[in-house]
Amino acid sequence: MSPRSAGIAIPTLCFHEKLEPHGGCRLCIVEVTVKNWSRLVVSCVYPAEPGLVVKTRSEKIDRIRKTILELLLAHAPDSPVLKDLAKEYGAKRDRFPAETSFCIHCGLCVRYCAEVVGKHAVGFIDRGIHREIAFLPEIALTECPPCKACFPLCPTSFAQAAFVLLEAQSIR
Ligand code: FES
Repeated sequence: MSPRSAGIAIPTLCFHEKLEPHGGCRLCIVEVTVKNWSRLVVSCVYPAEPGLVVKTRSEKIDRIRKTILELLLAHAPDSPVLKDLAKEYGAKRDRFPAETSFCIHCGLCVRYCAEVVGKHAVGFIDRGIHREIAFLPEIALTECPPCKACFPLCPTSFAQAAFVLLEAQSIR
């Protein structure tokens, strides 16, 4: 049974029940204790085991989630999903200099398109903080219009914006 189905709230940005766990956003961090040894782990990729004690909220966990959210808000300050989480964790929108790429690298669109839709119409480009998603015109312009399954998954609405831009560029 997953924590969610047991009614335990753990914030997530890159988790989706139809996708392989990715462990990208780190927001689902929790503290686990096994045989008196405690450590912080990324819960969506951490396997459950008998006797595992999991703390889903603490001062330390909340502080880490707050910092993660502040870093993400620098990329997408107007994302409703991030704003709601920021309210819950007391994250400030302007703690880090704005880096408004709008993509927060959750990979939901990329992975959903590949793993569920089976089209690979969108992928990652570039590296590090410059990493973001991009639609592949030769696939996306024919496959995406009747699909658009990834649009509502994007926590920042960047996937839809990137596709609209691609479409506009293709008819110039
Ligand atoms: S939901 Fe676990 S790392 Fe993103």
